[in-house]
Amino acid sequence: MARHLITSAIPYINGIKHLGNLVGSQLPADLYARYQRARGHEVLFLCATDEHGTPAELAAAKAGKPVAEYCAEMHDTQAELARGFRLSFDHFGRSSSPQNHQLTQHLAGRLADAGLIYEVSEKQVYSIADGRFLPDRYIEGTCPNCGFDSARGDQCDNCTKQLDPVDLIEPHSTISGSTDLEMRETKHLYLKQSAMRDQLETWIDSKDDWPILTTSIAKKWLNDGDGLQDRGITRDLSWGIPVKRGDTDWPGMEGKVFYVWFDAPVEYIACAAEWAEAAGAKAADWERWWRTGAGAQDVRYTQFMGKDNVPFHTLSFPATILGSGEDWKLVDYIKSFNYLNYEGGQFSTSRGRGIFMDQALDILPSDYWRWWLLSHAPESSDAEFTWENFQTSVNKDLADVLGNFVSRVTKFCRSRFGEVVPEGGATGPREQALITELTERLARYDAHMEAMEVRKSAQELRAIWAAGNEYLQSAAPWAVFKEDPEEAAGIVRMSLNLAAFYADLSAPFIPDAAAELRKSLALDSAGWPDDVVLALSRLAPGHAFTVPENLFRKLTDEECEDWAARFQGTRD
Ligand code: MF3
Ligand code: ZN
Repeated sequence: MARHLITSAIPYINGIKHLGNLVGSQLPADLYARYQRARGHEVLFLCATDEHGTPAELAAAKAGKPVAEYCAEMHDTQAELARGFRLSFDHFGRSSSPQNHQLTQHLAGRLADAGLIYEVSEKQVYSIADGRFLPDRYIEGTCPNCGFDSARGDQCDNCTKQLDPVDLIEPHSTISGSTDLEMRETKHLYLKQSAMRDQLETWIDSKDDWPILTTSIAKKWLNDGDGLQDRGITRDLSWGIPVKRGDTDWPGMEGKVFYVWFDAPVEYIACAAEWAEAAGAKAADWERWWRTGAGAQDVRYTQFMGKDNVPFHTLSFPATILGSGEDWKLVDYIKSFNYLNYEGGQFSTSRGRGIFMDQALDILPSDYWRWWLLSHAPESSDAEFTWENFQTSVNKDLADVLGNFVSRVTKFCRSRFGEVVPEGGATGPREQALITELTERLARYDAHMEAMEVRKSAQELRAIWAAGNEYLQSAAPWAVFKEDPEEAAGIVRMSLNLAAFYADLSAPFIPDAAAELRKSLALDSAGWPDDVVLALSRLAPGHAFTVPENLFRKLTDEECEDWAARFQGTRD
């Protein structure tokens, strides 16, 4: 039995995530976690909300709530939606947890002790009316690059150029609108990432099995110079993790907090501590996942994320944990994703464009979405959601192929033999051919799931469903029955066993339908087939079942057109 630590990039707290966010990290991570559990491995699957930084403060201000209250509420909302999508986290933590405060301050102290942190005195924009500095999104103005008039201090949303607050033309405070700004001297901490370049390069070079998307981004940042510049890890904000050196104060850093990208990945570790505490467990129970001295050398650690997150996971976070000189586990494999677009444009949180997690669950059960999103995961390139494609995929794969197969065989059996598996075995050439095909396909499905090839896994699963459908179609027990009821019984028994086989194999993709199918077929345990012949004789004659409700319904043109119209506008 192997041990898998699996983390998904932790979503920002500032609102409900859209389906593009979901398919870029949390959903494929869930697929992998469910698969590894089904194979009998020990899995710790963690995610959390990313609660610091200016986006959190601004979203709270917009909602008219104190930021701590806003974060607590939005965390619960996101947790509820994660449950709705059946994301099987062992713990859904918060980057604002006491555990993360403690660990972030501890790591900063270690880095300082190792000489990897230095102080820089620099000029920052200060708002006289607001009585505070204006980092990142607290300042807006005209973009020096494209002339867009609401570029933010950290980035222009129009031309995507990375900016510094001091670059903006005619800047104003987004808090008060005031233009009474001045440059004031302030001190910040910088992390000497540049000193760790060689160490990071050696480590990345040793990962020859990583996906190209991951290594190409990592190497670009490593070699372009931009990526490994020393980086400011503190901000003049009040919401966040106070800058301390372990548990002692950091002279000159009073009133400052760590930069959100410094503390967010530390939450991957702190989240394990939160998990242990919630379970009433001891420190040793989470440390065996994270500290090589406590057993984590045997852990396989996999991270899932969108491509924009890759530099932080291949360079910055490893620099933090390597620089600490402690025995933290480094990631073994980084699975990254391109973007999902929506109907010819981008999903956009700020403009409310596309489908958001709450809206999706309001209109259809999670399996419909899980299936479409995973089978179209943006792996080798960006992908696009269209209602037309969604409708085709649901109607064909889920309703016509899987749903129809299950419904036909269970209903036919009920009408001819009752709700029990009939006597008989079908062992002719047709069955032999089916078994050969399924044996090959199962091996490929396992290999793709193991390799986190999400689309290829979905394709193989779909082909496995289709093979059963074709078998039933060509064996046609309804026709055979008149002449040879015993032969028909054998075909039905074989087909019911196929349905049981599908319940297990489909569970990582469509857990609710799989559970319903298991329940109807009265399968005592969820398992994973190793051997197709054995798996297809699992249900013995006399085994009672019930005909399941329709597993999937078809989507009509009308409702899809309706939804297309409804989601084309902006969300308020
Ligand atoms: N909140 C970030 C995003 O959604 C991801 C943070 S991942 C972590 O892009 F490593 F920082 F935790
Ligand atoms: Zn611009």
